[in-house]
Amino acid sequence: MQNESTNVLLLGSGGREHALAFALAKSKNLGKLYAAPGNPGIGKLAELAALKISDHAAVIAFCKAHDIGFVVVGPEAPLVAGLVDDLNAAGILAFGPSKFAAQLEGSKGFTKDICAKYNIPTAAYQRFKALAPAIAYVRKMGAPIVVKADGLAAGKGVTVASTLTEAEQALADIFSGRFGEGECVVEEFLEGEEASFFVLSDGFNLLALTTAQDHKRVGEGDTGPNTGGMGAYSPAPCMTQALCDEALETIVRPTAKALTAMGHPYKGVFYAGLILTKQGPKLIEYNARFGDPETQVMMMRLESDLLELLMATATGTLKNVQAKWRDEPALTVVVAAKGYPGEIEKGSHINGLNQEFENGVEVFHAGTALDGEFIVANGGRVLNVTALSATVKDAQKKAYAAVDLINWKDGFCRRDIGWRAIQK
Ligand code: AMP
Ligand code: GLY
Repeated sequence: MQNESTNVLLLGSGGREHALAFALAKSKNLGKLYAAPGNPGIGKLAELAALKISDHAAVIAFCKAHDIGFVVVGPEAPLVAGLVDDLNAAGILAFGPSKFAAQLEGSKGFTKDICAKYNIPTAAYQRFKALAPAIAYVRKMGAPIVVKADGLAAGKGVTVASTLTEAEQALADIFSGRFGEGECVVEEFLEGEEASFFVLSDGFNLLALTTAQDHKRVGEGDTGPNTGGMGAYSPAPCMTQALCDEALETIVRPTAKALTAMGHPYKGVFYAGLILTKQGPKLIEYNARFGDPETQVMMMRLESDLLELLMATATGTLKNVQAKWRDEPALTVVVAAKGYPGEIEKGSHINGLNQEFENGVEVFHAGTALDGEFIVANGGRVLNVTALSATVKDAQKKAYAAVDLINWKDGFCRRDIGWRAIQK
């Protein structure tokens, strides 16, 4: 790790990126922090740049003009589009996997084939490129069964079908072209608690970070449609050290080896979505980036220097660094616009964000925008009210107390974030 300071460009505009900015801002070798496109919360920690992330040449030109030494890519789309390859080709260091390696998230079939080849525990599956054989297969296997569109579908491409009718409807949808080319994975339904496990990989070494649990459904009691995540806490109590070790050795390490063997070592974060079955942890999916809202709780607990960790990942020097976490749990409540994950309205005012919240509370911005001097809603998931405390129950109480100090009539949140951990 060099000692001179580095100017950093953070890409993305969600609560995840606000939390990354919050941690990067504390890093000892941070020069100037820029973010694009960012949001008003990130704007308090970084200089915002009106850059179109999909315009790789524009991002590279910005980096050259502002002496950017390191780019941190938040969301998956630029990874899958090969932004890190283009930055590297221009001599710019970046955090995140190459386009090839990002297929771990971008293509479910790609990941499933690696699992099969390397004996990585996951649900039994078949890939299909046409409707008729897929239907024949689900009829043979019976329900419950899981149908997944291949490719990025913003969390909306998965149907956990409890009946055959539901499974066939999901297949018909996929092959109607809603999710692009019409390719799917049909897989065995796994039973068990879900948890997320995060591991940095520099292409040679792995460094296990920590765990978290998300709340995918929009409604209390885990009901209603799937969302990007309505709240989270870290660590996940069900992920004991022994289970983390097992997941690292049976799932993440063989995946890293597979990518190296394919000539594309994985550099970035493995976000492994796991189901803890009776036979042990099994992989449901990989994401090639940090989680949202999982990052918000992880960054509350991170004691180590985030920039140092991310740069060590990009430069192949992870073996020289350690990740230290506060023992206390953190919990975040997502405040979303009424109607989310369906139709929402933008532009309503949010008041009360400028007050001093209790110690250990951070309100991360996701879909917010500035309208003159006012903060207004500008997306589905809008705020992530996050608290660190001695227990999940205390963190929950503290987070909801802060939620109740915010005045936004068009927002809503789940009131039961953390229920599973608190029940334990
Ligand atoms: P994914 O987009 O792959 O994370 O899937 C979304 C959600 O579907 C997961 O968080 C699980 O709750 C559920 N899911 C996915 N695959 C399976 C499976 N094989 N068995 C049971 N549930 C699953
Ligand atoms: N919270 C789920 C995700 O980041 O994919």
